[in-house]
Amino acid sequence: MATNKKNPTLITTVGTMAATAAVAEYQDHYQKTLYDSDYFWDQTARQELRWYSLFHRVQDCDLHAGRIAWFLGGKLNVTDNCIDRHLPERANQVAILWEGDTPDQIRKITYLELHQEVSRLANVLKSYEIKKGDRVAIYMPMVPEAAFAMLACARIGAVHSVVFAGFSAESLRDRICDAKCTAVITADEAIRGGKTIPLKRITDEAIMACPLVKTIFIVKRTGNKIPFYPERNVWLDEEMKKQMPYCPAEVMDSEDPLFLLYTSGSTGKPKGVTHTTAGYLLYTKLTHRLVFDHQEGDIFGCMADIGWITGHSYIIYGPLANGATTFMFEGIPIHPHPGRYWEMVERHKMTQIYTSPTAIRTIARESIDYVKKYDRSTLRVLGTVGEPINEEAWKWYYEVVGEKRCDIVDTWWQTETGGIMITPLPKIHSKMLKPGWASYPFFGIRPVVLNEKGEELNSKSGSEKVEGLLAIKNCWPGMARTIYGDHQRFYNSYLAAYPGYYLTGDGCRLDEEGRYRITGRVDDVINVSGHRLGTAEVENALSTHPACAESAVVGYPHEIKGQATLAYVVLKEGYESNGDLLGELRNEARHHIGAFATIDKILIAKALPKTRSGKIMRRVLRKIASAEYHDLGDLSTLADPSVVEQLIHQHKIL
Ligand code: WT7
Repeated sequence: MATNKKNPTLITTVGTMAATAAVAEYQDHYQKTLYDSDYFWDQTARQELRWYSLFHRVQDCDLHAGRIAWFLGGKLNVTDNCIDRHLPERANQVAILWEGDTPDQIRKITYLELHQEVSRLANVLKSYEIKKGDRVAIYMPMVPEAAFAMLACARIGAVHSVVFAGFSAESLRDRICDAKCTAVITADEAIRGGKTIPLKRITDEAIMACPLVKTIFIVKRTGNKIPFYPERNVWLDEEMKKQMPYCPAEVMDSEDPLFLLYTSGSTGKPKGVTHTTAGYLLYTKLTHRLVFDHQEGDIFGCMADIGWITGHSYIIYGPLANGATTFMFEGIPIHPHPGRYWEMVERHKMTQIYTSPTAIRTIARESIDYVKKYDRSTLRVLGTVGEPINEEAWKWYYEVVGEKRCDIVDTWWQTETGGIMITPLPKIHSKMLKPGWASYPFFGIRPVVLNEKGEELNSKSGSEKVEGLLAIKNCWPGMARTIYGDHQRFYNSYLAAYPGYYLTGDGCRLDEEGRYRITGRVDDVINVSGHRLGTAEVENALSTHPACAESAVVGYPHEIKGQATLAYVVLKEGYESNGDLLGELRNEARHHIGAFATIDKILIAKALPKTRSGKIMRRVLRKIASAEYHDLGDLSTLADPSVVEQLIHQHKIL
């Protein structure tokens, strides 16, 4: 690619721009990264990543055709970039700083130790014949071994599929089977908020239906007694002791898959979102550095779980690629007390904290003294992610936690985007922050607002409010490449509806100054406490109950969780609503999906509002669940409009 033309210092300037903090400069560079996108990414990829051999083409993308590929022909290894390349300068710097469920448990893993642990674990995997391209499920508590496991897979080119430890046996089974995993890495038990979760027992239950799984590697977390089957169960610590602390990194192609991460869509079947090697690493590295204004000596505190994309991108890959000290937290924000985050900030002198609006609202409910008690003067950037943040929570974060001194970065992105897409940048946008607005696109990202017809709406097209569907008009290195085993579904979900655009599934608004505000999902996905849940998954869970004839699940606004779930359930003949039955129905989602999927309210309905062709009118159900009984829109296509009146009446007394 051409490298010698135009502005050779673009990426260098972008990287150091925060120091000068000029908005006009940002604008200028942002425009350049769009109009000369290949040049920008070419330079960035050369400067940011260590390559075994350089790529020969920056990208080969065509959203119309569903083809996405970056840095073609390049060879590299993610762990070489995240670990080995830092060893000359950072061998004794802490790479992973871990705090357990209770504050008395702290572990510090240096880059050298990380290199050794990851190598040992990688050698264990190899000794059990796991090789490049094999899929390995990781079902783990938030302990450093979970990070070692992910990185060990990356070291040997195995593809990890982390399943959040809050998922049920059934959810774990579906994910293991879909990915055809041949091994699972888990722990005896997890501890979170003082409660234990029997991970090994759940894994045993899950793999009964997964004959391809040959080995279960078990990390000792609690040391409590667990079922152990020597034919295919292995204690990881014992095996690691036998291995060399060095393992050569597999040479990977830019487009070799790095991991799968299952996420919810509009059908009951979760999607194995697939990320590849070079583009993902580059994008998480760059966004971590610029969005969090990463500096030498920082202690970066992302409070997410590695079971979600935030944990992948901003606990593991982005920070480690930047040679940062990344924090890993096993617990929850209110255990053993609601000041836990700030106690940790003080103890470790954290410089950034990255958490969800739900966590912020949960802590903000408690006395302000829990915050004030601890020294937060080291903090510079406060990040939020996962769901829209309301103005009140934003202000509390800004004023109480950050004392109006820190930049708030409300970062919008998705499992599918790999990294942060829309966000203010620290220092650069400090004076332009607007509560509840994710604000500006990251370098190289071209968002647009579409109306239902697929026409682009423009902020300068008049004084009317610009509101519509959020889509992205170009490709970027961090974007998902496919859905594992089902590229057609990938195409249909994201690229087919509006050809030439990546459709996000979110609604948004655009203001006159070019800021975006994300208003929430416009598809059949709900977002409970920042956890993504498909309404169809919850409906499938309900349908397993013998009393359930039919159901429709929708989200409604919730003060703490952002959204909560309401299930409209029609009972089969002969069943009557009572407390026990409601309890059982509510438990189905917990049982089939996982504890975080609890149904908040159940409304037993005589019938659901359906069109004459038999389609449930979800729009109406959403409105009723939100207690917006007026403005229900056109009901003339309903087979029986009287159903609506009845549901409203029932909802009022719920
Ligand atoms: C959905 C993606 C991105 C990591 C965690 C969630 C919602 C995410 C924001 C934000 C408003 C947000 C969107 C998005 N979302 N960040 N800053 N403001 N909404 O990843 O599970 O893939 O969910 O989370 O609705 O589509 P995910």
